Amino acid sequence: MSFDLHRAPADRLATDALAARGLEYRLVEPSDRAALLGWIEADNRGFHHPRPTPQQIEFEQRTFRDRRVEGVYDRASATPGIPVATVSGWPTGLSVPGGRSIDAWAVSSVTVAPTHRRRGIARALMEAQLRSAIEAGAAVAVLTATEATIYGRFGYAPATRAASIRIDRRRAHWSGADVPGRVHAVDPAALIDQAPAIARRAVARTPGEIDRWPSLFERVLGTADPDSEHSRGVRALRYDDERGQAQGFATYRVTREPDRPGTLHVSFLAAATDDAERGLWRALVEHDFISAVQAHLRSVEEPLPWLLEDPRAVEVDAIADHLWVRVLDPVAALAGRRFGGAGTLTLEVTDPLGHAAGTYEIDASADGRAEVRRVEGGGADAPWPADVPAVGSRRAASGRDGGSRRSRQSNGLALGVQELGAILLGGVRPSTLGRAGRIAEHSRGSFAIADRLFAAEREPLLSIWF
Ligand SMILES: CC(C)(COP(=O)(O)OP(=O)(O)OC[C@H]1O[C@@H](n2cnc3c(N)ncnc32)[C@H](O)[C@@H]1OP(=O)(O)O)[C@@H](O)C(=O)NCCC(=O)NCCS
Repeated sequence: MSFDLHRAPADRLATDALAARGLEYRLVEPSDRAALLGWIEADNRGFHHPRPTPQQIEFEQRTFRDRRVEGVYDRASATPGIPVATVSGWPTGLSVPGGRSIDAWAVSSVTVAPTHRRRGIARALMEAQLRSAIEAGAAVAVLTATEATIYGRFGYAPATRAASIRIDRRRAHWSGADVPGRVHAVDPAALIDQAPAIARRAVARTPGEIDRWPSLFERVLGTADPDSEHSRGVRALRYDDERGQAQGFATYRVTREPDRPGTLHVSFLAAATDDAERGLWRALVEHDFISAVQAHLRSVEEPLPWLLEDPRAVEVDAIADHLWVRVLDPVAALAGRRFGGAGTLTLEVTDPLGHAAGTYEIDASADGRAEVRRVEGGGADAPWPADVPAVGSRRAASGRDGGSRRSRQSNGLALGVQELGAILLGGVRPSTLGRAGRIAEHSRGSFAIADRLFAAEREPLLSIWF
């Protein structure tokens, strides 16, 4: 990656657009404590969090060391050191179907001060983030959203869903098979060295997860501020397989009223194997002196109900979109994943911002690998391409089928960049977006092929906020 996270100048177009409104757009160096403090003040204000403690500032300094931190400043404001808008971005891996990872750009800390809202500041920053992401070589930009109405206009779409679940302890009788390993109650702080490797393997198993960063574990394990009430309440479990290898861990807290059974809140669960997942869940739901177990950001296909005598012990409180994906480079994004089988499909993608516009051909083999190429002459407004090989004729028998010609009868879809982001990880079927009128098929049967190709081996999930 040639893009220098800390030295590349602030995006020129956004700088000019904001300067025309009397605002200064600039990078914040995370090692500059005073500048970072002002920036964190603004970020916390945007998300209605309390003012930062000295410990939080140190923690954030460690977090933002690996991120590009940007602020918009108004010299005429009463507090010119506190930006009126914030954003941060960093390169990350995004897990995609097939146990692979593609280059992504994570966007976070999008805030605009209440005194400066609805003047186009967020738009300037969001469009700048996309250009930075492209410069950094990312195939997609990703974010999590406080409100589902903000980011579609920039080409993002919900690509994973997450469930909040509540397990009724009295009804939770385990019926699943025993696991070969063992669950240990451990000191959370003692996990700090093992956690990243376990989490890395867990992330690779699930499309939709992004790389974990070091300070995330400090927060999860309570080592960032060990003396706080919250951190002292953190408990941890570790699953070791039959050879004694750590394969998973979970952290949780129990809250309760005096003399009443408590609620166990699962805050983090990373399982590198199915055994680890089952072993940890069992240990969590079989706690005594609790009435319920609560967990957020769980898969909508959680295996837990299938492990209990009474599957209705698991209630889904809510299901919501979680990871939002914005495709920037369709060739890299599509070629990075594995597909659900052999087939050829053409995607005619429109993109109001232009980045992903074009016509792309996916030529997938039975093992799920695909050649993906941008079809010359394709584009947002270009006619259906006439110079690409015919569909349906898999190249298996004859090598490349370059001689034949595709027509509008080809297996193909016409879709916007948002719809491409939504189907990329397999979180929604292309035909479902067809039923919603958001994707069109060029010939009968294209949806069936697309549904099969875009299917993922497991429901995509992002199990953290960022
Ligand atoms: C969301 C937020 C960043 C928007 O900032 P802003 O500078 O007021 O936004 P802009 O003026 O650039 O508006 C850009 C577009 O988004 C729309 N928009 C802005 N905030 C919106 C919201 N909360 N819901 C729906 N649309 C919104 C605007 O109408 C505008 O649409 P248009 O360009 O298509 O006409 C700001 O309200 C904020 O800081 N909110 C609190 C923190 C937060 O929720 N951040 C998002 C984190 S994921």
